[in-house]
Amino acid sequence: MRRVQPAEEIYLDHVSSTPVHPEVLKTLGELLPIHYANSDAIHSAGTRINQLIQRSRSVIAAAFGVSAEEIVFTSGATEANNAIIKGIAFANAHKGKHIITSSVEHASVYGSFEFLENEFGFEVTYLPVDQDGRILPEVLKNALRPDTILVSIMYVNNEIGTIMPIHDLAKIVKENSRAYFHADCVQALGKIPVDLENVDAASFSAHKINGVKGSGVMLKRANVPFLPLISGGQQEMGMRGGTPNAIVNILFAKTLRLALEGEAEHIHHVRALKQRLIDRLSTLESIVFNSPSEGCSDFILNISCLCVPSEVMMNWLNQHSIFVSAQSTCSSKTKQPSHTLSAMHLNQKRLDGSLRIGLGYTNTTAEIDRFLDVLEEGITTYGKL
Ligand SMILES: Cc1ncc(COP(=O)(O)O)c(C=O)c1O
Repeated sequence: MRRVQPAEEIYLDHVSSTPVHPEVLKTLGELLPIHYANSDAIHSAGTRINQLIQRSRSVIAAAFGVSAEEIVFTSGATEANNAIIKGIAFANAHKGKHIITSSVEHASVYGSFEFLENEFGFEVTYLPVDQDGRILPEVLKNALRPDTILVSIMYVNNEIGTIMPIHDLAKIVKENSRAYFHADCVQALGKIPVDLENVDAASFSAHKINGVKGSGVMLKRANVPFLPLISGGQQEMGMRGGTPNAIVNILFAKTLRLALEGEAEHIHHVRALKQRLIDRLSTLESIVFNSPSEGCSDFILNISCLCVPSEVMMNWLNQHSIFVSAQSTCSSKTKQPSHTLSAMHLNQKRLDGSLRIGLGYTNTTAEIDRFLDVLEEGITTYGKL
């Protein structure tokens, strides 16, 4: 893929967002000027666009092995997570008000559960994680109750990259309860094979897989009772009102196809970059790894620098035009430590010095080497204070 960032900048924050694929950009430029009609209008200008949206929906559905009616376009995964969690909880509240999630979810999942708990009297169990940030199947099994109606667990953690045992977790829910199982698949799509067996609902975001922002998909199986969050329209089979953002919905299919076609090659490339990071960082006494060594996304490496606070190191790297994060971008403006690392019970030094390196397939070995040089220089400069 062609580089789209200034040559001197090193972008290592692909968990947060990714550059738009040139082919997606090209199609965007071609479609945007022509397809401006409302896709719900019944004249030809509208029906033409509607057909393209329906074709995109069918392509996405086929990729996930579901039917087209089970794919709903949203403004992103934050909306998809909110819609699924609240929509399933409200529609099934007459069967019970116990819902389960984990203590390491993205803010859009965590916040939806808190909202249901605080405003609507649902009882929430926040599952603990082990030292690798992973939900153990037996922990979930023990938490299930006759009145549990929904379980939501992320596929890949966005802060440390831990891959959750989604296949086993979804199976446990199906075999031991009548609850529906939702998986936030944002950091899994295009990065690891996604297995949706026994998964009733899932969320995806385009801008994490080299698509455009403001574009997401919620997958909801037809048999799952659901109340729409956004009322007021026939659009999206009545599940999400509002004039469709037609062009980005059309582009989602292409974005997904490109991500899946390139997946094996991207993983191969990024895995080598991550290993290069690990090999050299392992030689530095003040660095510890927060990401697990097994069962982790190749695209995420979370470390702590024990002698330099995150903020200082991030500023130092930023001065050298190297961009990383300390935690989830949706929580980056709070002074609170990362809730994933806190849930793993890491000590204060590790919480204070954490850095998340988000790799993308456009990164190069030269960039990794430069990052490592600057990081080491930062440790020498600030580590003795
Ligand atoms: C795991 C996870 N879920 C949900 C989201 C929200 O996605 P979006 O930016 O499309 O709202 C993110 C984005 O950081 C994420 O990493």
